[in-house]
Amino acid sequence: KTVAIVGCPFSGGQPKPGVDKGPIHLVEAGLISQFEGLGWNVKFEGHHQFEDIKTNDDPPVGILKNPKLVSRVTESIAKVVGEHVKNGELAVTLGGDHSLAMGTISGTLSTHPEACVIWVDAHADINTIESTGSGNIHGMPVSFLLGLGSKVPEFSWVKPLLKPENLVYIGLRDVDAGEKAILRDNKIKAFSMHEVDRYGIGKVVEMALDHVNPNRDRPIHLSFDVDALDPTVAPSTGTPVRGGLTFREGHFICEAIYETGLLVALDLMEVNPSLEDEASVKQTVAVGCSLLRSGLGETLL
Ligand code: ARG
Ligand code: MN
Ligand code: MN
Ligand code: MN
Repeated sequence: KTVAIVGCPFSGGQPKPGVDKGPIHLVEAGLISQFEGLGWNVKFEGHHQFEDIKTNDDPPVGILKNPKLVSRVTESIAKVVGEHVKNGELAVTLGGDHSLAMGTISGTLSTHPEACVIWVDAHADINTIESTGSGNIHGMPVSFLLGLGSKVPEFSWVKPLLKPENLVYIGLRDVDAGEKAILRDNKIKAFSMHEVDRYGIGKVVEMALDHVNPNRDRPIHLSFDVDALDPTVAPSTGTPVRGGLTFREGHFICEAIYETGLLVALDLMEVNPSLEDEASVKQTVAVGCSLLRSGLGETLL
């Protein structure tokens, strides 16, 4: 079994500097030897270098910020992740902001169009060019993957390969009004923190899998935004929202998805080591590494 680590020092999908340092901190914390300790063969060719497109050459489309930069970077990541998944390697992408998932999920779906996506996040990241209030593309990748909203020519490379019934959310608690309408209109299954409280995380993960993977036979792409966790657990992230997943709830999701034996790609996004104090940064990076280990089969016993 081989895992390919795709380090993506990228922050262009949102305005706060520092999230591009997330992957560097995660690797420096010892991720590679931790994966090896779990019996994995680890491929890591260094962090990706992205072409630098200056703001002057990258005017907004509507209110979307850095459209050309985000498009180029995510397209290159789609190719890299697609290649690893095609080779049967588990692709672990370290963000960077969540706009990167446009690339990672496109990569997975290029090999496995029948794959399902489990999106763990405080946010739905499903704004369209019509609904976005911020113009930050990290709040929009899911709509591009589904082909919702008016087409943005810059992103014409993104094939709308994701079907609404193959997507499920866990952990939502900060969803814009426009996004709520999109979720409703497209009948997208979502387990917010309300459902986590009501049913418990064990039942929620089981119901999420029953929805997108009833026969437990489809490849799974798990896209984990660290802000799904409560800010007391993962403070160093750009858009923290109180009332999030506990340490164990976050880990349980990763453990349960690993146990299916169907995981083909795993993203860990939005770790920002420039935010909050040193202890918070250390804590957030350590939690990020431990979520990933759970996704790679680390068990408690
Ligand atoms: N819904 C807000 C927006 O569209 C926040 C998105 C936060 N996304 C994230 N990946 N942290 O701007
Ligand atoms: Mn397949
Ligand atoms: Mn989020
Ligand atoms: Mn997100």
